[in-house]
Amino acid sequence: MPLLEMKHITKAFSGVCANEDVCLSVEQGEIHALLGENGAGKTTLMNILFGIYQADGGEILYKGKSVRFHSPADAIEHGIGMVHQHFSLVNKMTVLDNIILGLSSSNAVLDRKTAGEEVKRLGEKYGLLVNPEDRINGLSVGEQQRVEILKALYRNVNLLILDEPTGVLTPQETERFFDVLKRLKEEGYGIIIITHRLSEIMAISDRVTILRDGRSVKNLVTADTTPEELSAFMIGRPLSPKKEERKEPLPQTALELKGVSISKKHGGKKVLDSISFTVKKGEILGVAGVEGNGQKELAEVITGIRRHTEGSLSFDGESLDRLCVRERFNRGISYVSDDRHRDSLVMDMTVMENLILRNYNRLPFSRNRLLDYKKAEKRAEEALAEYGIKTSGKSGIKTLVRLMSGGNQQKVILSREISEEASLIVASQPTRGLDMGASEFVHNTLIRQKEQGKSVVLISADLDEIMSLSDRIAVMFEGRIIGILNRKEASVNEIGLYMGGVTGKEISHE
Ligand SMILES: Nc1ncnc2c1ncn2[C@@H]1O[C@H](COP(=O)(O)OP(=O)(O)OP(=O)(O)O)[C@@H](O)[C@H]1O
Ligand SMILES: [Mg+2]
Repeated sequence: MPLLEMKHITKAFSGVCANEDVCLSVEQGEIHALLGENGAGKTTLMNILFGIYQADGGEILYKGKSVRFHSPADAIEHGIGMVHQHFSLVNKMTVLDNIILGLSSSNAVLDRKTAGEEVKRLGEKYGLLVNPEDRINGLSVGEQQRVEILKALYRNVNLLILDEPTGVLTPQETERFFDVLKRLKEEGYGIIIITHRLSEIMAISDRVTILRDGRSVKNLVTADTTPEELSAFMIGRPLSPKKEERKEPLPQTALELKGVSISKKHGGKKVLDSISFTVKKGEILGVAGVEGNGQKELAEVITGIRRHTEGSLSFDGESLDRLCVRERFNRGISYVSDDRHRDSLVMDMTVMENLILRNYNRLPFSRNRLLDYKKAEKRAEEALAEYGIKTSGKSGIKTLVRLMSGGNQQKVILSREISEEASLIVASQPTRGLDMGASEFVHNTLIRQKEQGKSVVLISADLDEIMSLSDRIAVMFEGRIIGILNRKEASVNEIGLYMGGVTGKEISHE
């Protein structure tokens, strides 16, 4: 008897089918991957299982019994836990308080002590090492994820749902995370993992279920399949191989940073420490590093969101030091932020409104302060077609962004920021959460920008992405650039060492 059976699940949102006749079964001690393009219905299916949505039709059997959960609390009670892509931890509280949050107790003090011990025990057993007394806001994303998993395990679940858990992790963290999953599997847990990375599916899963347009189109045993087959079932075509031959960058400098620093008001370590580099026209500069080593600050200093305290920046020979975000944007500096919900989208506006956010007050969309609706609509329709953005049914470009799938929300921002008018694109984790087809499209767009003599600063935790796109690779560590390498000479291993803070002098070139 399988641990979980979802049979013929159907779910529509105001007439639009998100799930149609979906079947999924998971055994005890199995890691089951759920694969599908952006908007295929993966999150919806898991939200139904976790009691966030109610299915319109179909049946869920858990441990052989027919069940229907009315809330996440209900699902947890029955043994099902879920870690969402956007964590739901309370930042100001400690690890332990987050884990026991919402659980009833008669003797809080005594409970806290036992709970602390239990969390330690679970942590050691599964390699989920965190200090129960640390505050969440001091933890790395990888550590926060461990807390989310501990929180579920502490509630005695048998089935764990993980919605794109590796998107935010570094390669090293992902490896450690997979060790944890293997240990859970050995203990008999059932695990459902959503990921867009085929290499991860091949490495960790036992079986794969593929969703396409809301339907479960295929169930495969991982050992009997290949990445090519998976991609073919998912998108109905093989991916085109990447073009390896690229133009060399042009000699002219586009962006130049000289000794740029951000000091903290009250002293202490600098957030950015004497950053100097140039980006040529026609060049993609990759910025690698473990997240949280100043990459975000670097992006924000270039785009003008943050002010530097020392040094200077120039673009096309003109100083940027006194220019605000909009002035820099008007000169062609564009930003794809990694925190797309916070920085880039207005969730309660429509796709079209979000697409013209940047340009609504100037030509061609606006003349004499009146919005040219037709032009805006046309632009929006083009963006949908170009990026394959899936909106909700009939609403089309009038769909509220809040109602779109995670990946489709990202495509909206990308199509707005990566436009013809940009001459420098600062792109932070541009393909995180995107399916393969969309990632491929973004990569090709960045390469096209480069070939047109424009410049790209590509910040990414995905080393494969960095290696395949960059002309040169700068590695950041603790607010500094610890080395800049030519792509042709760089190896993943060497970049990995730099990422860990080993400087060039210490790496021997034999
Ligand atoms: N609350 C909602 N209201 C209306 N439509 C919704 C709602 N939630 C999801 N949808 C629609 O259902 C479809 C499936 O979305 P879902 O989030 O399940 O996709 P997904 O496979 O998780 O995609 P991604 O890889 O981009 O996260 C999408 O077309 C989405 O717009
Ligand atoms: Mg999703």
